[in-house]
Amino acid sequence: MTQGTLSLDERANLDFVLYLRRRWADVLYPALAAEVNEAVSADVQDIAETTYAQPSYPWFAWLERGSQKMLWRAVSDAVEAHPEYVLPDDSILPDLELDPDLVLPQWYTDWDIHLQPGGVWGNGASARVYEMGAKLVMLGENDDYSFHRLFAETAVPKRSYQRMVDLGCGFGKSTWALKQAFPDAEVIGVEFSAPCLRLAYEKVKALGLAVHFRQADACVTGLENASCDLVSATMLLHEIPVGVLPSLFHEASRLLAPGGVLRILDFHTTGQPFRDLMMVEHGVRNNEPFMSPMMDADLPVICRDVGLDAARWVAFDERGVGRLEELDWPARHDWHFPWAVLEAEKPA
Ligand SMILES: C[S@@+](CC[C@H](N)C(=O)[O-])C[C@H]1O[C@@H](n2cnc3c(N)ncnc32)[C@H](O)[C@@H]1O
Repeated sequence: MTQGTLSLDERANLDFVLYLRRRWADVLYPALAAEVNEAVSADVQDIAETTYAQPSYPWFAWLERGSQKMLWRAVSDAVEAHPEYVLPDDSILPDLELDPDLVLPQWYTDWDIHLQPGGVWGNGASARVYEMGAKLVMLGENDDYSFHRLFAETAVPKRSYQRMVDLGCGFGKSTWALKQAFPDAEVIGVEFSAPCLRLAYEKVKALGLAVHFRQADACVTGLENASCDLVSATMLLHEIPVGVLPSLFHEASRLLAPGGVLRILDFHTTGQPFRDLMMVEHGVRNNEPFMSPMMDADLPVICRDVGLDAARWVAFDERGVGRLEELDWPARHDWHFPWAVLEAEKPA
């Protein structure tokens, strides 16, 4: 579904929310940061106490949650008005491996992650709502999925691959970017949500790409031992409880052939107290209960424990060159995610 197919009213609703979210990121956040900066003195120990006392804070916090709720309302209304864009839940799609017996864990179904009502897995409409909403969540900066292309082109080492697996692939935007960057590799996307996979399937067909999708738990993919030379995931880790993460890394290590590589894009703390506090609060206000614990976890140590070498985080600059050499981001005044890539290798 493209914005071009929407009515003027529907487009106006989406544009209004997008504008509100940009004001929140580009104007309110720097205003609050400036107030906090001015108020912080040598004897201030608690950045949270200082932040909550600033005049911009209630506006910033309210708009963060309020605009996200408005976003899903506007997108859901637009999708509901266009039933022709919703893939039927019983559509039979050859080559798409759906598992009708898969039981989704409660930690996955209990939370409306990102505040999306009903999550990304409920029915065909939820996948379309997610597709359109994700563009607004990214403030309109990933409409052409350049972010995911940048990951595939700069974070994945350039070499030949036989098989790549993309865990938690959603509706496939991370997966088809891999296939475009490495056309000779067999590429597999693994995902919990059947509606997302139907949409992913439709999208890669439209792009003329051969990508295989499989409905499974990323922690129990059912793929053979040592059968992949890249395991990737983008924006998945922070949606998984910290207690489940070791099993995800264990699965990644099991799947990797000797010399294979792990590349995972997610968030990392920046070491800047105000910025990190705002990220913790983003997790709370955006219904992402697993985000903060994931950011506090020592994932390179988990990688080492499951038999992966040279594990480390590097920063990722989605507006610039993509993967950076160190865990250090270019300065920016607006609110933005602290993107980073977790890298590790399976010993040869
Ligand atoms: C934020 S989306 C990211 C999708 C895609 N990788 C991207 O970058 O656009 C996270 C996806 O992971 C899926 N997911 C979460 N936990 C999973 C698990 N244990 N196994 C498979 N999929 C999972 C969710 O259903 C969702 O589609």
